[in-house]
Amino acid sequence: MAELIQPNTERLQLRQWREADKPALAVMNTDPRVMAFFPALLTRGESDAGVDRNSTYIEEYGWGFWALELKESGEFLGFVGIKPVPDDLPFAPAVEIGWRLAHPHWGKGYATEAARASLAVAFERLQLAEVASFTALPNLRSQRVMERLGMQRDALVFAHRQVPAESPLSRHCLYRLTAKDWGQMVAAK
Ligand SMILES: CC(C)(COP(=O)(O)OP(=O)(O)OC[C@H]1O[C@@H](n2cnc3c(N)ncnc32)[C@H](O)[C@@H]1OP(=O)(O)O)[C@@H](O)C(=O)NCCC(=O)NCCS
Repeated sequence: MAELIQPNTERLQLRQWREADKPALAVMNTDPRVMAFFPALLTRGESDAGVDRNSTYIEEYGWGFWALELKESGEFLGFVGIKPVPDDLPFAPAVEIGWRLAHPHWGKGYATEAARASLAVAFERLQLAEVASFTALPNLRSQRVMERLGMQRDALVFAHRQVPAESPLSRHCLYRLTAKDWGQMVAAK
């Protein structure tokens, strides 16, 4: 078990999961707007299993996909964080950054703010050389977050194994950010 890392920003707290997050996450995971670029909505059981998986990972390593909370109200917003990608992705091994927010909380800069705090952990605390992110080609909103973070688009486009090949959501793009570029961005601020 590693020391628990729970980054925070001006507006946001990234934290370990609680049982009480499960209903709110399940609502998000059955919202067709939130899940538009995933192959299916999640059942309550699948959504709860995701909380348990992320919580166990954070407990073991100290970091992962954190629950995201609004400081001023304590409201659960969704999740943002970093975790290793499955071995069968074509760019593995890699640590990815990812995000999923409840629809009422889009358009406020929360994903990018929480992602920057996650990148600070990745590069400044864990000393990773690179962080990756990937999404379905039509998920332009997620790609805009990657670009706001200063990530660079890789030439690789790949078919995701969990999505039927004929689906418009099959083909994914990849973005990367190196520790060197992160260091330059932080220094330029
Ligand atoms: C992807 C996702 C997290 C992006 O959320 P988002 O709110 O658009 O992203 P950000 O946090 O970067 O917010 C940026 C927006 O907030 C606006 N904004 C408002 N106040 C702001 C502030 N104080 N600071 C920064 N941006 C602010 C920006 O103008 C921008 O709006 P725009 O996109 O209309 O130009 C969200 O759409 C989502 O959860 N999607 C479903 C799940 C998903 O697809 N996840 C990715 C799978 S790979």
